[in-house]
Amino acid sequence: MSFPRNLIFVAVWVASITTVVSPYITLAQDLKRPPREPVDVAESTQGVVVSDTKAASEIGSSLLAKGGNAVDAAIGVAFALEVTWPEAGNIGGGGFMLVAPPDEEVMCINYREKAPANVDPHSFSEWTQHRHIRMAGVPGTVRGMALAHEKYGKLPWAEIIAPSIALARDGIEVDAYLAYSLNSVLTLGYIQSEPRFAEFRRVYGKPDGSLWKAGDRLVQPDLAKSLSLIAEQGSQVFYEGEIAQQIAKESEAGGGLMALKDLKQYTAQVRPAMHAKIGDYTLYGAPLPSSGGTVVLMQMQMLQALDFPKDTQQYWTTKQVHLMTEVMRRAFRERAAWLGDSDFVSVPDHLQSKAFAEKLAATIDPNQATPSEAIAGSIALSEGPAESMETTHFSVIDKDGMAVSNTYTLEGTFGCRIVVKGTGILLNNEMGDFNWYPGTTNRDGDIGTLPNQLAPGKRMLSSQSPMIVREDGQVKLIVGSPGGRTIINTVTEILVQTLMLGRSLEDAIDGPRFHHQWFPDTIRFETVDEGVFDNIRPELKAMGHDAEDRTVWRQGSAHGIVVNLDTGEAKGVADWRRGGAARAPVSVTSP
Ligand code: DON
Repeated sequence: MSFPRNLIFVAVWVASITTVVSPYITLAQDLKRPPREPVDVAESTQGVVVSDTKAASEIGSSLLAKGGNAVDAAIGVAFALEVTWPEAGNIGGGGFMLVAPPDEEVMCINYREKAPANVDPHSFSEWTQHRHIRMAGVPGTVRGMALAHEKYGKLPWAEIIAPSIALARDGIEVDAYLAYSLNSVLTLGYIQSEPRFAEFRRVYGKPDGSLWKAGDRLVQPDLAKSLSLIAEQGSQVFYEGEIAQQIAKESEAGGGLMALKDLKQYTAQVRPAMHAKIGDYTLYGAPLPSSGGTVVLMQMQMLQALDFPKDTQQYWTTKQVHLMTEVMRRAFRERAAWLGDSDFVSVPDHLQSKAFAEKLAATIDPNQATPSEAIAGSIALSEGPAESMETTHFSVIDKDGMAVSNTYTLEGTFGCRIVVKGTGILLNNEMGDFNWYPGTTNRDGDIGTLPNQLAPGKRMLSSQSPMIVREDGQVKLIVGSPGGRTIINTVTEILVQTLMLGRSLEDAIDGPRFHHQWFPDTIRFETVDEGVFDNIRPELKAMGHDAEDRTVWRQGSAHGIVVNLDTGEAKGVADWRRGGAARAPVSVTSP
């Protein structure tokens, strides 16, 4: 008797799950998320650090206590998150660091990944695997941190990295969030079965093969060795030395695009931050290749041009969500039309202007949704699908008012999930941020426009939106978030809640969020909305918004700092969504 082929397949699959990976009978979807906690708050006149983990915020605040400035602390936090929040904290990815030294111009360190030399616009047109070393862009974090240190740092480089080496070597206490995050990936069938993830399983799997629990220890000896090399030899060991060789070897063996010469040629840049005036505030954001600064500032300038209702009786009103959705729709359309790496494409200056924001705002109907198709303009919309699609933000201020707003990422949770053998270093899968399908922009949200198509050495467009706000030349607010394209809207919503509606930073970070990105033409609400969106959804529907589908559990994880300019006291607020922590060198308080 012969079995049907699909039954044999199922039998082999069940056998492989139960024999190869028996400790992981739990499936990723059965894991329980840690319960919701209040936002974490720390206040001080001696500086504050807010990040996704307690250990990283504590390392940052101890560097401040040692006399380091905000940039020293930020570099320390970046290396500490690599050890303590590996789903997004990284040295194998890239990002953007805004630095506001007192009385000086706000600058951005651009350490976004670059495409390797071996690409053309169609390199990914037929590609489907997002967890593959081919997805890795040339990492920028180590060069970015070295550049920030060279330009602004006070403490010795090795001293800043030392606490992270100790954490990796001696082990960290796994908390509920890290346990959830690790288990979510380790229980995936392909991670358990495919040989290319063996190093991931070895490095991040619990030695006895069981699921991680809060209180367990994760020891990362290979990473401790890599961090020691970086501390002793500087960034060049990562780009030209021993670590570079190991990355290039891994890439070649795994079918990746990155070669040793791509690493050798990688450069980070320092550029002035973008800025716009909103009322009494000057808002600073990251320039291209992040779309974050351009789009957040465009949205805020549009809202300023509108008669935006200042009603605070409920957290979001129908009218506020309507107007903000219309603003998001229009700004994301401009993003798709124009934005890419400005070292490769010329981007029109008018996108930053108040006049252009006013012109766009004037097209908004106060009572009716505009269908996204109606504003496509010169972007031809295709039928059918193109592609299917973690990041972490931290904010730092020191006792002298120097501020850092840093967002960096591996793109997906744990990036491409390839750990370079023997190094403990995870690589990003940032190549997915390029427009993979030239000419194909569709209603699902895939973008195929020219500015963000692949080219050798080009940086992929980002949505990372680290922000710094000054009032009368002094730092008032620092904020940013992870969340892919939702980052832009998370940050805009926090700016609206604090600067326009006068809410506390605690309330603005705690409160429910929503997202619209032109296409798909629907508002996505957080499901943890405490009824706020349920109440206004029928009215939004009546205005023509598709506002019911595609709810998400959470949107981002925003860590911010607000300064009382009268007393000089800074208050750090860490988002509850991923269990973040605010820490200060002295006088820590919790709500
Ligand atoms: O730079 C970007 O736009 C994305 N690669 C960010 C990815 C992200 O935020 C995923 N995290 N939740």
